[in-house]
Amino acid sequence: MTATAPLAFRSVTRVLSCIQPTGSVHLGNYLGALVNWVRGQHDKDVFHGIVDLHALTTATEPGLVGAATVELAAILYSIGLDPEVATIFVQSHVPEHAQLGWVMECTVSFGELSRMTQFKDKSARRESEFVSAGLFTYPALQAADILLYDANEVPVGDDQRQHIEITRDIALRFNNRFGDTFVVPEAVTPAVGARVMDLQDPSSKMSKSGDTDAGCVYLLDSPQVITRKFKRAVTDSDSEVRYDVTSKPGVSNLLDILAAATGGSASELAESYSQYGPLKADTADAVIALLDPIQTRYRELMADRAELERLLRVGASRARAVASATLERAYTAIGLLPC
Ligand code: TRP
Repeated sequence: MTATAPLAFRSVTRVLSCIQPTGSVHLGNYLGALVNWVRGQHDKDVFHGIVDLHALTTATEPGLVGAATVELAAILYSIGLDPEVATIFVQSHVPEHAQLGWVMECTVSFGELSRMTQFKDKSARRESEFVSAGLFTYPALQAADILLYDANEVPVGDDQRQHIEITRDIALRFNNRFGDTFVVPEAVTPAVGARVMDLQDPSSKMSKSGDTDAGCVYLLDSPQVITRKFKRAVTDSDSEVRYDVTSKPGVSNLLDILAAATGGSASELAESYSQYGPLKADTADAVIALLDPIQTRYRELMADRAELERLLRVGASRARAVASATLERAYTAIGLLPC
């Protein structure tokens, strides 16, 4: 029997998605991706990592990553991920990530890491800022995240495909050197949710990296703030309400958001409006109604830290059960001296 034999008996596909705790979750993250995490949780064996160690590649201020981590965890539970179904864990709670990360660094070459476009872009953008070695070796840690869980599928956007490719290369190289140890994962295209654009600049995706927050609706924004952001949303020069992403990006974005929040169709909804004002008001109200139960659950959880920490311990112990077995398999395959 080879070391990986038990894997062959796992009948359910395992999926790993990870998210960095940097900044607050916004409507684009939620409607574009996270709703699908919730919808998909019963279909496959899903693991969701909050990858706080990855956030250290660029974070230096004390406390920030930890605060973003609790917020993100509470949001994941609040939107409906069931801790009994999905395994939600914090990366730093599972020490095997850092341990296997080192092994991965020794299995990937300097040249391969140098070719990562995300590193080239990020380090160029940071110009005179501190460029950590972690920013460079980041794909090795990401490979550890994936391989520790014997993940079959990793849903990622185009910006992450290269990191999944290098993970596959690392897994194959390791298996080749030391014998079959890791499941070779595949990048899959995530189920596409709504395409949510910035309210101030409907030609770019809603994002927290915009100049101001005015175009970005956060999941925890108050109803007043949400109403104000939609009221000030950029619309298009004529005054007709029509669903046309190319020539009317601002209005179409509002219609897309309204459709996603109410479950309707954007082009059908367009027919009920003749002016921008009521469309903006209704979209704001629909988003407020959508977020209200999430915010209520979030406040409850944040007020009960003990419960939140308990949930995270449950996730960490489920994650560790898998991760520690994989690390052990890797150490054994390499032939490190058992302690
Ligand atoms: N690099 C990913 C990003 O920036 C985050 C990430 C870390 C990840 N580890 C992962 C994604 C493992 C998928 C699988 O978005």
